[in-house]
Amino acid sequence: MPLVTVTRRLTFNAAHRVHNAALSDEENARLFGKCNNPNGHGHNYTLDVSVRGPIDERTGYVLDLGVLRQVVEERVVNRIDHKHLNLDVDFMRGVNPTSENIVVAIWRELEPAVRPGTLVRLVLWETPNNYVEYTGE
Ligand code: NI
Repeated sequence: MPLVTVTRRLTFNAAHRVHNAALSDEENARLFGKCNNPNGHGHNYTLDVSVRGPIDERTGYVLDLGVLRQVVEERVVNRIDHKHLNLDVDFMRGVNPTSENIVVAIWRELEPAVRPGTLVRLVLWETPNNYVEYTGE
């Protein structure tokens, strides 16, 4: 049975402040720039969720992409959209919200929820020019 990877794209908007309390204010400002703004600032994020599996003989699908959308909305988007990632999101508590750390936190929320498919890749776009990719390693 061929294995195919299917991808659903979703978007959300969220605020964050990237800050490492172990560093000085000057060092934080130098490292993180606008993302270190004391009261946070916003990004329009795009998230690509890729699931791999065999094609179901009955449906011809690996996974109904409408179902995948619902799972990602319930597990992630509805919990972070228009929220402050440092303050409002339980699965981000204590996490410095760089894109790298956000994508790993999202992976942990989604990975158990897409079975019997396998979550194989998340791509998180923070801007149209910057993205991070995580494959669960
Ligand atoms: Ni930022």
